[in-house]
Amino acid sequence: MNIFLTSLLFLIPIIFFILSRTRKSSKRIPPGSLGIPVIGQSLGFLRAMRANTAEKWLHERIKKYGHVSKLSLFGKPTVFIYGQPANKFVLSSNNSTLVNQQTESTRMILGDRNLLELNGADHKRVREALVSFLKPESLKQYVGKMDEEVRKHLEMHWQGKQQVTVLPLMKILTFNMICSLLFGLEEGTRRDKFLACFQEMIKGMWAVPINLPFTRYNRSLRQSARVQDMVKELVHERRVQLEQKGASSHKDLITFLLSMRDEDGKEVLTENEIMHNVILSMVAGYDTSSIAITFIIRQLANEPAVCEGVLQEQQEIAKSKNSGESLTWADLAKMKYTWRVAMETLRMVPPVFGSFRKALTDTEYNGYLIPKGWLIFWVIPMTHMDSSIFPEPSKFNPSRFENQASVPPYSFIPFGGGPRMCPGYEFARIETLITIHYLVTRYKWNLCADNSFSRDPMPEPSQGLPIKVYPREIS
Ligand code: HEM
Repeated sequence: MNIFLTSLLFLIPIIFFILSRTRKSSKRIPPGSLGIPVIGQSLGFLRAMRANTAEKWLHERIKKYGHVSKLSLFGKPTVFIYGQPANKFVLSSNNSTLVNQQTESTRMILGDRNLLELNGADHKRVREALVSFLKPESLKQYVGKMDEEVRKHLEMHWQGKQQVTVLPLMKILTFNMICSLLFGLEEGTRRDKFLACFQEMIKGMWAVPINLPFTRYNRSLRQSARVQDMVKELVHERRVQLEQKGASSHKDLITFLLSMRDEDGKEVLTENEIMHNVILSMVAGYDTSSIAITFIIRQLANEPAVCEGVLQEQQEIAKSKNSGESLTWADLAKMKYTWRVAMETLRMVPPVFGSFRKALTDTEYNGYLIPKGWLIFWVIPMTHMDSSIFPEPSKFNPSRFENQASVPPYSFIPFGGGPRMCPGYEFARIETLITIHYLVTRYKWNLCADNSFSRDPMPEPSQGLPIKVYPREIS
């Protein structure tokens, strides 16, 4: 009896404590429903993405539940958060609370030592190595090489054509630029073989979370193994060139990473880290940049006054060059209006819709509890279309970026922000400006298809944006 009473007296406060905590926590979990097990809201969301109504779909949630709500996406309990404070919360968070969360298929395809999989000190070390190559001071020496790639591309795919389809061509162009700068791989059959495997590989990147046809995923995995083999071979070749033939460490990204040493003289990155991160850079820079340039081309056809402004700026620069002379870093600095047009395009159609983080511990946001292990889904386009930040958001108006300090932090985020902000920003800026320079100074164009686009998950203009092209008289 005594033992029973003593145990009861001891247990009652503990039970009360646990109950009060559970009640308090469950009360603070965001509103919403997790839906049917496993499927949750995934199908509705994916349907909306394809129909390009994902923003509307999410706005309906916001109307119903507010700026923070729970749902289940791709089999995982998730909290959807929205708005500038939400972006700040996610993007500026440190590794001890929120970590990057990629899908299983992404990890399988890109390899487990790619930046997206790394956190803490490993993420910092690998990222710093990549940024040393991708920062403006380093990239400015490659402007001539990128210029050469654009000119070759136009001669091969645009010259003499009356109609072209922009998106597939921009994919070839961005692939070639990446191959040249990151892999030091010049044009030829090896590059073509690489492109074919690479395109098959990335088709399956989203297969598991989005489409569920496992054949596409398996094919993608097979191609991924071939891409890994090709990159491995390249890494070995570059090592030999570096060690035996005294190649410059600035030849390309692979050689640059191979030549990096820490203060003890040890290699900064392992061979797997080099392989997985050059493949990641290729994947991260391929669709995004080609889509951004494609939508700028679409926008220039839709906005004649804007196109005229870009043309004037670019013709001024062209006039200052001798025939056949490459653009330089100083020329790019003069392309201020063109870059504002690019930014406004990225605001209206950001290539990346959003991404996920995982809560490492019970985390609080806006008075709600995000339980440990749950995902956080943050999105880009909705803040970009917030009229309290960007007045008349549906109007294409590059002058919004004349005074960039007036744009509040964490509200223009096509490249993300904080410790995981896109390290390829400068690379994307250079390739975009050079491509637009040669396109507007050499061609006029108009659209052949309607103006609509869908997301899969990246935005794709209707039919890949077929356009009629007319050579421009050189004045
Ligand atoms: C218009 C072109 C581009 C856009 C819109 C874009 C967008 C983004 C965004 C939004 C993120 C952050 C995702 C997150 O926080 O979850 C990101 C990360 C990243 N991007 Fe880009 N990107 C572009 C071009 C490039 C290029 C050209 C490269 C490489 C040459 C690149 C390499 C990367 C890498 C490696 C990361 C991961 C960074 C990390 O986790 O620390 N991107 N990009």
